[in-house]
Amino acid sequence: MISEFQVRTKLIYGFNSLDQLGAEINKLGAQKVFLVTDTVISSIGLLNLVGDRLKEAGLQYIVFDGVEPDPVLENIIEAKQKFDESGCDTILAVGGGSCMDAAKAVAILVTNEGELVQFEGADKIPNPPRPVIAIPTTAGTGSEVTGSCVVIDRERKAKMSIRSAYLQPVLAFLDPRLLATVPPSVAAATGMDTLTHAIEAYVSTGSALVTDSLALSAIELTARNLPAFVANNKNLEAAYNMQVACTMAAMAFQWARVATVHAMAHSLGGYHRIPHGVANAVLLPRVMEFSLIGNLEKFKNIAVAMGYDVEGLTPYEAAYQSVVAVTNLSKCIGIPGGMNELGVTEDTLEPMSVDAERSGICAKNPRITSVKDMVNIFRASMY
Ligand SMILES: [Fe+2]
Repeated sequence: MISEFQVRTKLIYGFNSLDQLGAEINKLGAQKVFLVTDTVISSIGLLNLVGDRLKEAGLQYIVFDGVEPDPVLENIIEAKQKFDESGCDTILAVGGGSCMDAAKAVAILVTNEGELVQFEGADKIPNPPRPVIAIPTTAGTGSEVTGSCVVIDRERKAKMSIRSAYLQPVLAFLDPRLLATVPPSVAAATGMDTLTHAIEAYVSTGSALVTDSLALSAIELTARNLPAFVANNKNLEAAYNMQVACTMAAMAFQWARVATVHAMAHSLGGYHRIPHGVANAVLLPRVMEFSLIGNLEKFKNIAVAMGYDVEGLTPYEAAYQSVVAVTNLSKCIGIPGGMNELGVTEDTLEPMSVDAERSGICAKNPRITSVKDMVNIFRASMY
């Protein structure tokens, strides 16, 4: 089998790594920075940490904080207008996945004529977008290294997904100080998104040696550090390990792909407005239970990476310990036990399953998943 792997992002990571921001941006020849963020970030003082570094390096910047939690097309159009008026030459995202995705979408429009919808899909961007610099303030999506962005088109009631290697940020900073204001519920949900990326990438039929190594390390780091990070967001070591786990999981899933959990979680989120990480977390153990027989060895390795002893167990029992590990982790960080607690009703299980199957996202799952299988998994995830 021949596999491909590429990441173009230069990662600057570690305690106080953000102190190098000005020097690194200067190396890119930037003069004036367009900072894309949201009102939550701009109201809690995190921007000072970034702004001070830019000023120290003699860089001018302007702030656009109009990104909504799931960025909509209107946010992008407004930001692009502000960018054109500002005389900025460099785009810097500070925030979670929404801010990074919005910055990428603006970067496309800066160098390409037309509307964003024209670039929807894979490899549809003719001119390389303006390079994006990413400073993530959550550990979940991994958008700081992925070549994709999602923008909501309210008029068409559609989620536009744009994918291109061009969209991988050129530079990203993982400094645990930036995670110090993440509330416990967000830390738990985004951490479970990271774990889902890592597990789905690891057991994917599209996985390979390089992605396996990244994914398994991300699983181990998450199991060891997520509870401590949820318990105390001032625990910088746990925060840092979760940042690195998130980025490694994203590097892995970008090439190995995600699968049935994400296919079903997208439907669940769309029908019931459940946060992405929570939707993944509730479904993950049930999808793993279903998928185990597709790769007992790898599920056993997940159990071991999460600290479970599989000595003397049969191959199936050993693999099943991974389900036990994920269930216990979810429980201890306060993830709801079932979809019934999230207001999900039985009548939506079938249409959600049809949509999930149609999305094609489950193509690389280790066990082929039919619509009927998904209905059963959703039902098993209710309580
Ligand atoms: Fe995800």
